[in-house]
Amino acid sequence: MQRQVRDLTAPLPPGTEFFYAVKANNDPRLLRALAPWVSGFEVASSGEVLRVREAVGPSVRIVMGGPARTEDDIRMILAHRVERLHVESLHALRLANAVAARAGAILPILLRVNLAGPVPGATLTMGGGATQFGIEQASIPDAIAVLDECGALRFEGFHFHTVSNNRDAAGHAALCAAELRLARGWAQEHGLDLRTVNLGGGWGVDYADLDWRFDVAGFARALAPELGQGPRIQFECGRIVAAYHAAYLCEVLDLKLSHGRAFALLRGGTHHFRLPSSWSHDHPFRIIPRDRWPHPWPRPEFTDREITLAGELCTPKDVLAREVTVQRVRVGDLVCFQMAGAYGWDISHHDFLCHAHPDRLFLSEGERVAA
Ligand SMILES: Cc1ncc(COP(=O)(O)O)c(C=O)c1O
Repeated sequence: MQRQVRDLTAPLPPGTEFFYAVKANNDPRLLRALAPWVSGFEVASSGEVLRVREAVGPSVRIVMGGPARTEDDIRMILAHRVERLHVESLHALRLANAVAARAGAILPILLRVNLAGPVPGATLTMGGGATQFGIEQASIPDAIAVLDECGALRFEGFHFHTVSNNRDAAGHAALCAAELRLARGWAQEHGLDLRTVNLGGGWGVDYADLDWRFDVAGFARALAPELGQGPRIQFECGRIVAAYHAAYLCEVLDLKLSHGRAFALLRGGTHHFRLPSSWSHDHPFRIIPRDRWPHPWPRPEFTDREITLAGELCTPKDVLAREVTVQRVRVGDLVCFQMAGAYGWDISHHDFLCHAHPDRLFLSEGERVAA
């Protein structure tokens, strides 16, 4: 993962900052491993602020975004020296200003923009259409006007996180360039001191092709002519940092036929790893054979057939891959889901049905890392 971050950041122009979006995987061991390699951490909640501070310490840089903010969040930001808040509504601007003024503080902010659109396709879009995120493009002049009343806020620039899992590096560079031009245009028009533009995350991975990689060099090359003299550019990527470096392993507990289709029942499921069901995709996996069979009856097995991998929950939604051909699978074998590091455990409903949580093992250079 550290090598991955080094390779992701090496082609970026000097002065570009690369934050890790903690929401993709907030395990403290992972945060500590990443800390020396990233500019800082992007968090979405007070809980993530505490998680980063506890895991990595008081001096690591933190920036914070997210669509729904409370007064407690703002107090937490000030108490834990979060560097900047990405503000997503006019009410949130006034709320942040009121809390900062009461505390006698000046809070640096970016305005998060929801583009007018349309925007290029990716797996998820947060902007360019009707979503709960950001301030819609048409309302940015209103937000800038509200800033005049907000003496406890310091405007530093604009924030865009428009798409997630964009595999088109050239298209992503074009989107970022357009966002940058928009930010410069607003700054010029309204006489703003534009210090920072945060272009979000969204650099893609391909769950259907484990060897495919986002073309960071091409992305950086395409964007470079747009960067010029200031503002400072920040990225905050999650998936591309964490996805590749974890596997989720489950034991096959049972095999059955139902209405002509073959199912493997796993000791695990979407309560540990909800990503495939939330994306409705077949997550990549391989079968790891295990020879041990302790029972006197014949070992159930399927060979050369399409199977559906289902979990241990009492819902037909608990499926991690559908009708994928396998050469052989037996009760007692292991299924290894690859690319499980981002938005896996962290987005899952761990305690549904009170099944046991999986062991979580962390390796560094082949050695187990202590908890
Ligand atoms: C505001 C914000 N920034 C960054 C990210 C990270 O995005 P990704 O994991 O696609 O890089 C997200 C993810 O949803 C986000 O909401």
